[in-house]
Amino acid sequence: MSHKIGILTSGGDAPGMNAAIRAVTRSALKRGMEVYGIIDGYKGLVEGKIIPLERGSVSDIMVRGGTILGSARLPEFKLEAVRQKAVEQLRSYGIDSLVVIGGDGSYRGALELTHMGINCIGIPGTIDNDIVGTDYTIGFDTALNTIVQAIDKLRDTSSSHHRCSVVEVMGNHCGDLALYSAISCGAEVVITPEMGYDEEEVLERLRYLEQIKKKRHSIVILAEKITDADMLAKKITSATGFSGRATVLGHIQRGGSPTPQDRVLATKMGDKAVELIDNGEGGKCVGIINNEIVGVDIEQALTSPKKSRKQLYEMFERLV
Ligand code: F6P
Repeated sequence: MSHKIGILTSGGDAPGMNAAIRAVTRSALKRGMEVYGIIDGYKGLVEGKIIPLERGSVSDIMVRGGTILGSARLPEFKLEAVRQKAVEQLRSYGIDSLVVIGGDGSYRGALELTHMGINCIGIPGTIDNDIVGTDYTIGFDTALNTIVQAIDKLRDTSSSHHRCSVVEVMGNHCGDLALYSAISCGAEVVITPEMGYDEEEVLERLRYLEQIKKKRHSIVILAEKITDADMLAKKITSATGFSGRATVLGHIQRGGSPTPQDRVLATKMGDKAVELIDNGEGGKCVGIINNEIVGVDIEQALTSPKKSRKQLYEMFERLV
């Protein structure tokens, strides 16, 4: 069956999105489909920014971070009238299926569009690793590598000056980037939304490490949106023997060439998304679960409980 399919990237960009765009485009062309790229996510879709993609359109993009299609956040996509415009734009091009690369907000839009007659398949593209229907999201590994490289550098200067570095990392309301980087760097403290935050406990641990264990430096990894990194660093200075310094890594974490792991993951997921469309499926999202690429109902992915990180966190605590 011949299809016209669209592809868009939505929400915060993530390294590896381009590898997914390439895989979707080439896999679809190989199956005899026509492929259209939608510029600037759902916003561009509503505005009719739609361009044909050929094999050559996606050459040499695998190594590049960001997304060649551009991305945007469009809260108004919750409104049916706005989504109706999107459906009309797709129909005017004869596009009957759409691949949406993004996070859970983008998945909600994809589910609604499926209910309105456009078969949508979601691909998890976000550095946050906060999507339930998959063990890993595209971009998480690259962002983690960026964070670990930064912390390795901070440790050098921190240990030379008897300091404690408070490093704020992204993740939205998910602590995976914080926890995985804390494990990778042998940090002294990790603060995540899942495990909660007790300022006095953090200061007590740092005092113990400095006074009893005679540590020359410490690293505190702080997931964003919990407390102010600079304020915590100042408290550390006044309440422990360390001099506190805050570093907010910010959007650096979203950029850079994707790691091979993200490139392979994105390629596998892109190919699987096209396979699902070819089978006439919609309202699904692609995931990697126990190292296997699977298609899961978006509804199920959005309503399932979050993966527990309790065991990983307890392991981190045992090894401090
Ligand atoms: O979802 C990705 C993410 O980078 C989050 O980690 C962060 O909270 C948010 O996006 C930042 O959004 P913006 O780029 O719109 O400031």
